[in-house]
Amino acid sequence: MELKQDSDNKVSYEALELFQPPTAHREVFQQTLERAVGRVSALAPQFGLRNPRLGIPGTTRYAFCIPDEWVASFWCGQMWLAYSLTGDSRLKNSARMRREYFKTVLEHPRWHDHDLGFLFSLSAVADFTLTGNEKSREMALRAADFLAARWRQPMPFVMCWNPMLRDGPDFMARKTGTLNIDSMQGMALLFWAARETGQSSFTEIAHMHLETSRKYLVRKDFSSYHAYEFDPRTGEPLAGFTHQGLHDESCWSRGQSWAIHGFAQAHLYTGNAEYRDTAAKMADYVARHLPEDGVPLWDYNLPADAIPYRDSSAGAITAAGIYTLARCYGGGPEARKYTALADKMLLGLVENCDLTADAKAEGLLKEGAAFVALGRADNLLPYGDYYYLEALMRAVGHTEFFW
Ligand code: GLY
Repeated sequence: MELKQDSDNKVSYEALELFQPPTAHREVFQQTLERAVGRVSALAPQFGLRNPRLGIPGTTRYAFCIPDEWVASFWCGQMWLAYSLTGDSRLKNSARMRREYFKTVLEHPRWHDHDLGFLFSLSAVADFTLTGNEKSREMALRAADFLAARWRQPMPFVMCWNPMLRDGPDFMARKTGTLNIDSMQGMALLFWAARETGQSSFTEIAHMHLETSRKYLVRKDFSSYHAYEFDPRTGEPLAGFTHQGLHDESCWSRGQSWAIHGFAQAHLYTGNAEYRDTAAKMADYVARHLPEDGVPLWDYNLPADAIPYRDSSAGAITAAGIYTLARCYGGGPEARKYTALADKMLLGLVENCDLTADAKAEGLLKEGAAFVALGRADNLLPYGDYYYLEALMRAVGHTEFFW
């Protein structure tokens, strides 16, 4: 596998000559971005040390995280992005005040799973990237070590979930050998650690995980399985299944979004054309299954008689991922084609789900679907908010993020 490397032999964005192709809706996205940054700045003192978890049903308010939640970093990530745009030290201080919590995460092995990527890219990597803070760098590298150590032979991927008693015996047994699509974005922490340290094992593990994901989670029509079970003793692939989608053979829209963003991001780190091409074909699948208004339903294969819950978080992650993909092409017809698709999805969110003009709302986007089978639909979601901010920034040309 060929990596793009700079003169110090470090994997590097700078080795690829890239720019963000221009959006057709710059003005509306810029205005929405300014309102979004204004909401984040207004909410920071109101939230204090709390981190939003899930919208309270029927409201535009949040319930907040308890310890050990995979979503704990998305608010922190919004504050770091807003800080990168405004330089407002109150946002920096508020984001950094969460460091104690993330230290606690590192100290609790039982809390470690594939979500270490989300948790530390949007807290410690963000802090180090924007301020050069060495303690944050150390914490991010420690998290990358723990994530890489989740590769256990003979399975060709980083172990995703941890079996827990509350899962019941069947799911518990299955979890040990399961690869899932939510892990894709976590590989950026490993690529980042490789770039920081020059240690190629991080890159090798990330490539192994991404290749296995490409082979087993991505179907022939470029839809995706949420998860794929392997025999943990032999590493033999068994079957694809869903956890949060409609059924085993359907395409859960947020799963598809994690893969598009993850593969496009991996291309930026490595220059590997297969990652870019897979993200592109998965984006083409989305284009064929997207409702007219540009906002995905929670599963791309919902039958006509199902409640058509939207998942605005899938829309935001996919839009951010497809802007990233457009950047992978640098210029030319593909860059224009994918920018137009990301524009359609982002405009769909701005016109149908945006809360940035609502001074009472505690988030940026309504109508997220966390887990429909558990009744968690039509909610505010902190990851929907984070990726909405990221997509708006990418749309108007920003290229510095924490992945
Ligand atoms: N656990 C990741 C997700 O719900 O997308």
